[in-house]
Amino acid sequence: MENTSEEKAVMMPRIGDKAPAFKAVTTQGEIQFPEQYAGSWVILFSHPADFTPVCTTEFITFASLEKKFAGLGCKLVGLSVDGLYSHIAWLRTIKEKIKFRGMADVEVKFPLIEDITMEVARKYGMIQPGESSTKAVRAVFVIDPKGIIRAIIYYPLSLGRNFDELYRVVAALKTADAFSVATPADWQPGDDVIVPTAGSCGVAKERVESKEAGVTCEDWFFCTKKIDKAKVLAAIEANAK
Ligand code: BEZ
Repeated sequence: MENTSEEKAVMMPRIGDKAPAFKAVTTQGEIQFPEQYAGSWVILFSHPADFTPVCTTEFITFASLEKKFAGLGCKLVGLSVDGLYSHIAWLRTIKEKIKFRGMADVEVKFPLIEDITMEVARKYGMIQPGESSTKAVRAVFVIDPKGIIRAIIYYPLSLGRNFDELYRVVAALKTADAFSVATPADWQPGDDVIVPTAGSCGVAKERVESKEAGVTCEDWFFCTKKIDKAKVLAAIEANAK
């Protein structure tokens, strides 16, 4: 059934959905999303406006970490509802004039989408009128190599993102996929992982009675497992670009 225009205005993709498709003009030429990124992880993120201070700190930080994300096989794509020439002028100013926490002369090499019509921002639920109806909030979509949305994080206009956390999110998702496990609070590569909860009484009994090396069960529903850090690093660095 077709969505009404009111429903479209508040449409929010969800975790597990296919990433909505679009074609866009960017600072690196036209892109066809997500087809062009098939086979790679992607972080698609929005920011409120060019030539604003919090966004400037975010771009300097993300651009400085681009190689680290490439080491995860993860590409970066930014978006704001400004036009292409504003984007170009802002990125030139960042490189020529702005220093932040010792980072200077930073060139933003990943694409920044122009979205004056807000078509893409609306498709991804990046316009949240309670916060602003003219600017995108700071949204983050982590999209897997099959084009499926795997994580969504939203921040308000005033709050700069933590890019170490975004790295951790991609590393944790790749680990969960590679080893069929879950990752606990504050997990970092090398830490113990969570064995998926038993789904039957039989498995629950097996779990608590099991003497499997490296597995520790506090209770039938709470088992952790050690995975060799080198194996985890190999999994998260697989398909590095
Ligand atoms: C900023 O990036 O500094 C910013 C942008 C929009 C609203 C508030 C702050």
